[in-house]
Amino acid sequence: MSNVKFGADAWNARFSGDGWAYGKEPNAWLEERIKPGTGKALVPADGEGRNAVWIASLGYDTTVFDLSDIGREKCALLAAEKGVEVVYEVDDLSIRDFSTSTYDLIACSWFHVPWSMFCEHYPRMLSSLKSGGEFICEGYHTSQMDMTSGGPKSLDLLWDLDEVMEVISEGFIIKHAKVETVELDESDLHRGTAHVVRLHLIKV
Ligand SMILES: C[S@@+](CC[C@H](N)C(=O)[O-])C[C@H]1O[C@@H](n2cnc3c(N)ncnc32)[C@H](O)[C@@H]1O
Repeated sequence: MSNVKFGADAWNARFSGDGWAYGKEPNAWLEERIKPGTGKALVPADGEGRNAVWIASLGYDTTVFDLSDIGREKCALLAAEKGVEVVYEVDDLSIRDFSTSTYDLIACSWFHVPWSMFCEHYPRMLSSLKSGGEFICEGYHTSQMDMTSGGPKSLDLLWDLDEVMEVISEGFIIKHAKVETVELDESDLHRGTAHVVRLHLIKV
């Protein structure tokens, strides 16, 4: 039985097409920051698996959790195409168990959840990083509301940098935490000028 409460149907519908909704290449911010390694990586909410497959190709023992069972099938196809292995667990952030000090890397792109869920469950998720482990992620900033380059059209889901840092930064060294204007070119859903939050934190 899967560990999913709600929300999977819409993501399954999005991932049901022949193509990859956000492309097959990794997110550009993750690609810039993540170096080859042999540790354990968690890639939350990786949809069709583009980031996880690339991270596995760098040498990491890589696990995804995501709501979408269609996403799991697409990730398996991409992993086979690239000749890597990824463990993909259909699961929900709000009810997933996280064991402490497990991962060397947690990396995700566009993992937006309602703010109350973010406040309660992102810190739990990040508690599964080992000391010295890295959290690297990109999300859409609140000023993305009127932009046409992707992201949820809800302030409850978008990120204010100060609020995000207040919730998650305790116990981390901040290598990078900025609001940036970038040019996205991931797919038709994520293309053009965008206002994003880019984070790279190291667990103390
Ligand atoms: C915009 S997609 C991004 C997918 C992937 N990170 C990428 O950049 O290609 C958001 C993903 O978050 C997942 N998701 C949303 N809420 C979730 C939750 N509560 N727990 C786990 N996954 C969730 C969805 O299933 C979807 O795959």
